Amino acid sequence: MKPAFLLIAAALAAAAFTTLAAESAPQPAAAAPAAVKPDLNAGGTKFGATCAACHGADGNSGVPANPKLAQQHPEYIVKELQDFKSGKRPNPIMQPMAAGLSDADIRNIAFWAGSQKAKPGFAKDKELVMLGEKIYRGGIMEKQVPACAGCHGPNGAGILAQYPRLSGQHADYTAAQLLNFQNGTRKNSPQMADIAGKLSDREVKAVADYIAGLR
Ligand code: HEC
Ligand code: HEC
Repeated sequence: MKPAFLLIAAALAAAAFTTLAAESAPQPAAAAPAAVKPDLNAGGTKFGATCAACHGADGNSGVPANPKLAQQHPEYIVKELQDFKSGKRPNPIMQPMAAGLSDADIRNIAFWAGSQKAKPGFAKDKELVMLGEKIYRGGIMEKQVPACAGCHGPNGAGILAQYPRLSGQHADYTAAQLLNFQNGTRKNSPQMADIAGKLSDREVKAVADYIAGLR
């Protein structure tokens, strides 16, 4: 009963509160999210003009090096764009892109992309994918690699704001990120640096291929 009530209350608050009303309203729980409510239309327009060429019109990039952003957790997208900006995640393409975005742009785009439906992908290598599945579901005990599923969810949907969605992602992109964590190029997650650091090239390929077909 309680969660349903909270959901309805949140929906009502989101629908009813204008920015002004939210600012003058004393209730902290309802007023805070309403005050920073993302503008999905603005996010979609900005995305179409500046990001769609590489990430796909609906956030489902068709290019293996460019990640799919559709259905990704908005808070994760916000964090990554800020990490590109600050240089914690250096990338010659995305740093200038992120530098051109205001905090409001970032929020609007992130919530718009998160609201798009992800298109499924496919695993390609029958033999490797079995190794990938083993790693994803069970980790590698002798190397103390934890199961990816423990944080990214059994079907790769991720968990709330903290753990990104992985399922259906291009294998080339996933493998590249695991290598970036491994060699320290991507410095925005000590957790992932530690985990990726224990994987061999073959294990990286295998788990990336399995993730591409996860749904
Ligand atoms: C010229 C192509 C290009 C354009 C334009 C572009 N991106 Fe990217 N984007 C990339 C590539 C390549 C990566 C992978 C970067 C890396 O390896 O770290 C990426 C990564 C990202 C990521 C990280 C995703 C993840 O799963 O961690 C986000 C978020 C993102 N881009 C958002 C945007 C937004 C928002 C825009 C528009 C303002 C944009 N991109 C424009 C090519 C592009
Ligand atoms: C202890 C929790 C945890 C475990 C276990 C874990 N991850 Fe992660 N992973 C994270 C977090 C947190 C992030 C977000 C990092 C950031 O803030 O950029 C992440 C990010 C990633 C990314 C980057 C996604 C993107 O869109 O750029 C990939 C790829 C990834 N993990 C793969 C894996 C694989 C493969 C495994 C299993 C071998 C695994 N993870 C196990 C916590 C975990």
